[in-house]
Amino acid sequence: REDIKLKCNFVTHVFVFAVTVAVMSLDLGSEWMKMAIVKPGVPMEIVLNKESRRKTPTAVCLKENERLFGDSALGSMKNPKTVYRRLQTLLGKKHNNLQVAHYQKHFPEHQLQEDPVRGTVYFKNSEEMQYTPEELLGMVLNYSCGLAQDFAEQPIKDAVITVPAFFNQAERRAVLQAAQMAGLKVLQLINDNTAVALNYGVFRRKDIDATPKNVMFYDMGSGSTTATIVSYQTVKTKESGTQPQLQIRGVGFDRGLGGFEMDLRLQDHLAKLFNEQKKSKKDVRENHRAMAKLLKEAQRLKTVLSANMEFMAQVEGLMDDIDFKAKVTRTEFEELCADLFQRVPRPVQDALAAAEMKLDEIEQVILVGGSIRVPKVQEVLLKAVGKEELGKNINADEAAAMGAVYQAAALSKAFKVKPFLVRDAAVFPIQVEFTREAEEEGFKTLKHNKRILFQRMAPYPQRKVITFNRYNADFAFDINYALTLLQLPPRFKLISSLTLFS
Ligand SMILES: *[C@@H]1O[C@H](CO)[C@@H](O)[C@H](O)[C@H]1NC(C)=O
Repeated sequence: REDIKLKCNFVTHVFVFAVTVAVMSLDLGSEWMKMAIVKPGVPMEIVLNKESRRKTPTAVCLKENERLFGDSALGSMKNPKTVYRRLQTLLGKKHNNLQVAHYQKHFPEHQLQEDPVRGTVYFKNSEEMQYTPEELLGMVLNYSCGLAQDFAEQPIKDAVITVPAFFNQAERRAVLQAAQMAGLKVLQLINDNTAVALNYGVFRRKDIDATPKNVMFYDMGSGSTTATIVSYQTVKTKESGTQPQLQIRGVGFDRGLGGFEMDLRLQDHLAKLFNEQKKSKKDVRENHRAMAKLLKEAQRLKTVLSANMEFMAQVEGLMDDIDFKAKVTRTEFEELCADLFQRVPRPVQDALAAAEMKLDEIEQVILVGGSIRVPKVQEVLLKAVGKEELGKNINADEAAAMGAVYQAAALSKAFKVKPFLVRDAAVFPIQVEFTREAEEEGFKTLKHNKRILFQRMAPYPQRKVITFNRYNADFAFDINYALTLLQLPPRFKLISSLTLFS
């Protein structure tokens, strides 16, 4: 159409048809969130927040007449009870879930109660202040949308939001519910590993040909670790000729392995050192405010120890106006986290097993996520993958937000995006279950049947047709995860059995 200005950006191949409709992506991490926008004339860009930073803490602080977000929320640690963070771990979980217990242990300032109807949790701050994790996340999402709108200088309603690949249906619904409360229209929940893979592919369109190339992304974030094997190749399509495609081939993950667990180890270590200094008769572990300060210092310590061999941790007025100072070395840090580093290779092995591939079929292992900056993680991973080096050729922090915003532009009617086919895969097998009357030796019995709809790693979403030819009246069936098919390592069993069916 002549009346529409056509703009093209040669790097990203996003063509803009409309002039008013911007879309956004939100890479929703357990510690940080990153937003990106596409708007006319600005193809893909990371949103800068009020502090002009490219990432924003996923946190909200609720005071009596005030809501604070991001850095301002974390700055209100004088009263840790008013600050809510790491909400993802609680989404869609029953009160008796192990992850809820883990959360309660590390954030003792919060009182987590069981919702009598849903069996899920809510925060009870006082009789008047009670919030579910979804409501709190809704506030955070609304804030993120506000930041994106301020940056875009126009209204935004449409968003693609990332979730961890291992999120189950209950967890995904919780994110959608939060987005609905924030008034966001979710074009798609995209698995964060798929968003990263898309971002990688879009910028290497020219290198993709008919021969499949397998790449592994190793993503260690704050709350979890995921290894993903992706095949890139061109395929012929009916609608638009030969196009590049990415296919998720194998996924391995560790739900608890990440930077936060390291922070907790350091926090505990600092608490021990403070108590040993005997400057106070009280146990610092009993003081929520002091422990919140130690967690913050632990996070700084971890970052500094990634570049230095030792560091002097210090907190002024940690407790009862007593200052705290103690030296921690990288070696000590690595000893504290030794069992965590041992878990680094496992997602790689699980991803290979799921893809039915061997290491020598993987061309490159690419690092993603904030916690891969810890030198020991890279050292252990490098050994586990047997490559000469680890790929650092994508922006480890922003690739997911950028991939998700490309998808947002592709799904929005306001933009025309050069096709890049995405074939995701079912991380958990999905089955249909039903009960049928049968006759056995003249007796009527009930027969319970299960049939697999999607095998693990089957391309997804995809249409499936199942014929029930023995029925001639209405009947009920359930669709659920086929847990028994999952050969999960023991450490997953407890967590999974509690969360998958919530
Ligand atoms: C969402 O954020 C805007 C500011 O961007 C604010 O005016 C509005 O009250 C918020 N809505 C909710 C439901 O929190």
